[in-house]
Amino acid sequence: MIESALSSTSLPADATGEGNAGLFSIGWQPAEWPERGAAAAMAQWHVISWGPSASADRCHDALRASGLAAGVARATLAVATSAAEVAASLRWDLPAADRRVVFFLDGAPAFDASAARGNWAWAHALVHACQQAALASGTRLWIVTATGLLGPTPAGPARPEQYFAWGLGRCHAVESPESWGGLIDIDAGDADAGDAVARFLTSGSSEDEVALSPDGLQVPRLAAISGLRAMARSFDGDRLFVLTGGLQGLSFEIARWLGARGARRLLVLGRSPLDAGRQDRLRELQALCDHVEYQAHDVGDPEVMQALTARLKHEGRRIGGIFHLASSWQRNGRTAVAPLAHVTREDTEEVVWAKAQGALLVAEMARQTDADLLVLFSTAAATLGSPGQANYAGANSVLDGVARQFEGSRTRALSVAWGPIAEAGFGNSEQGRDLHELWERVGLRRLRLAHVLSTLDGSLDAPESHVTAISVDEDQGLSLPWLQSRPIFEGLSGSAATGLLLPELASLPPAQRVDFIARTLRASLATILNLDEQDVGLEAPLADLGVDSLVALEMLFTVDRDFGVSLGFDETLLGMDVTLRALAGEIDRRLPAQALEMAA
Ligand SMILES: NC(=O)c1ccc[n+]([C@@H]2O[C@H](COP(=O)([O-])OP(=O)(O)OC[C@H]3O[C@@H](n4cnc5c(N)ncnc54)[C@H](OP(=O)(O)O)[C@@H]3O)[C@@H](O)[C@H]2O)c1
Repeated sequence: MIESALSSTSLPADATGEGNAGLFSIGWQPAEWPERGAAAAMAQWHVISWGPSASADRCHDALRASGLAAGVARATLAVATSAAEVAASLRWDLPAADRRVVFFLDGAPAFDASAARGNWAWAHALVHACQQAALASGTRLWIVTATGLLGPTPAGPARPEQYFAWGLGRCHAVESPESWGGLIDIDAGDADAGDAVARFLTSGSSEDEVALSPDGLQVPRLAAISGLRAMARSFDGDRLFVLTGGLQGLSFEIARWLGARGARRLLVLGRSPLDAGRQDRLRELQALCDHVEYQAHDVGDPEVMQALTARLKHEGRRIGGIFHLASSWQRNGRTAVAPLAHVTREDTEEVVWAKAQGALLVAEMARQTDADLLVLFSTAAATLGSPGQANYAGANSVLDGVARQFEGSRTRALSVAWGPIAEAGFGNSEQGRDLHELWERVGLRRLRLAHVLSTLDGSLDAPESHVTAISVDEDQGLSLPWLQSRPIFEGLSGSAATGLLLPELASLPPAQRVDFIARTLRASLATILNLDEQDVGLEAPLADLGVDSLVALEMLFTVDRDFGVSLGFDETLLGMDVTLRALAGEIDRRLPAQALEMAA
C-alpha cells in the first residue's frame, strides 16, 4: 500500500464532499552514474534505429569495445523495411539466454502535418519490437528517445510525438516485466550520447527510466503536489473556447462547465453528425452561452485542422482556450486497446489518430492563434502503467509532450492524466464500468465529475505542465503489483499489501503448496467469474474457463495480493492454454523465498 503518500496529497474537497483527487507530477532529479557492473557480461546486444542514427552507431561501437558483450548486432529500420523483416534478420526467434535490444528513435522523422498518414511508421515498429521482445524468451528491450523535452530543462529540438514511447514503455514494463529493459531519453545534439547510452546499459543500473545529457543523468520520480487551491475561475465571455470530443461524454460536461464559468462562445468539434441526442445537448449549451457552434470535424485530419485554424485566424478570433478531449478506442465495433501481443497496426492507428495526432494539430492551432489556454485530457495509464493499454497509453503520453513544449510560452498548456472517471463518457459504458470497478478493487477509485472540475480549477494555476489526477481509497491504499519494483514510484512506496497468504503457505509441507495455490486460484476465479467453485476445473485451459483480458488483469492483482508474485500479463492471458494447476506450479516456483522464510 502506498496510502501515506497518496492520501496526504489532495486537491481541495469537491462540491460533493465525497473525498479528494490527489494530484501528482513527475519530477526529474540528478542521479549518480552507476559503477560499471558485470551484469551484462555475457549479453548479446542488438542495436536498432529507426532511420540512420549516429548515436546508435556510437552505442554499437562502444558496446563492442566494452568487452562485456557476447555479440553486438546493428540494424537500421526505414519506412521501406517491414519491422517483421528486421526482426527476422536479427533472429529474435532463436532462443538466447540474455539478449538485449536497444531501439533508437532519434533518427525518426519529425511529425509532419503535411503527411496526413505515415507519420507513425516508427511507432508501429516500436509496438512490434515490444511484441517481439515479450515473445522471445531471454530478451530485454530498451527504447531510446530524443524528445528534447525530458529532464529538468527542456532542450531542443522538441519532439513531443516521441513521448509515445514513454506511455507504451510504462505499460510494457507492467505487462511483461521480464522482457522490459527501460526508457532512455538523450539530447539529440550531444555527439557523445551513444557512448553515454552504452555506459548506462552496461552499468547494471536498476533505474529503468533515465534522461542522459552532457550534464549527467536524471531520473524521474512521481511526487505529490500539495498546497493547491481550487479557485473557481471565470472565463472571458468575449473569447472563443474550442472543444474537441463532441457533444457527449466529458466533452459536453466541460462545455457546460465553461458556460457556467462565463464562456459565451463555444466551438465544439466531434466526429459524428448532429443526431437528435446531440441536437438536444447543443440546444442546452446554446441556452447557457450566446454562440455555440458544432462542427463534425475529424481532429486527426491535418487538412481539416489547418483549414479551421486559417478560418479562425481570418475571422480574427481570440481564443480563450482549447480543450482536447477527442479520443477513439474502438475500431469496427471492437476495442482497439488491447494487450500488447494482440495489438495490430490498425488498432494503434485508430488510437493515435484523434488522440495524439489531434493533440499535435490542436497545439499548432493554439500556437497560430496565440490561445490563452490549451488543456489536454490524458490518462493515468500513461503515468502508472496499465496492462493491456499500451497503445492507448502511448498515444496519451504524446499529450504530456505537447504540453511540455509550451513551457515558457504565453499559452498556458496543461495535460492532465486522469484516473478512471465515472458519470460520463467511457466511464458510463458497460466496458468502462467493468474496468473501473476492477481498478476500484485495487484501491484506484473513480473520480466523479465534481472531482474533475475541481481538479481543473486547482491545476490550471499549478506551475506543472503535466499532472496526474487520481483518487486512492484511503483505507485500502493502492495495491498495484508493480509499484514496488519501478523506481519512478519510489517516493510513494509504503508497505505493500502483498503476500497475504504466505504465512499459511509457509506452514504447509512443500509438497502441498501447489495444491493450496491451485485451490486458492480456483476460489478467486470462481468469485471473479461468479461461478461455483466446482465449475472451475483445475485442469481446464484458462480460455475454456472464460478468462478474458479483464479477468486476467484481476487475476494478476489477486496473485500478487495473495502470494507476492508479480505475474506478467501474458502469463495469465496469453498462455490461455495454461491450466490453473500449471499456473499454480509457476507461482510456487517464483514464491519470494525470503518472505516465505520470514512468514514461517
Ligand atoms: N472516461 C474516463 O474514465 C477517462 C479517464 C482518463 C482519460 N479520459 C480522457 O478524457 C477524454 C474524454 O473521455 P470520454 O470518456 O468522454 O471519451 P469518449 O466517450 O470516448 O468520447 C470521446 C469523443 O471523441 C470524439 N472523437 C473521436 N474521434 C474523433 C475525431 N477523429 N475527431 C473529432 N472527434 C472525435 C467522439 O465524439 P463523437 O462521437 O461525438 O463524434 C467521442 O465521443 C478522452 O480523451 C479520454 O481519453 C477519460
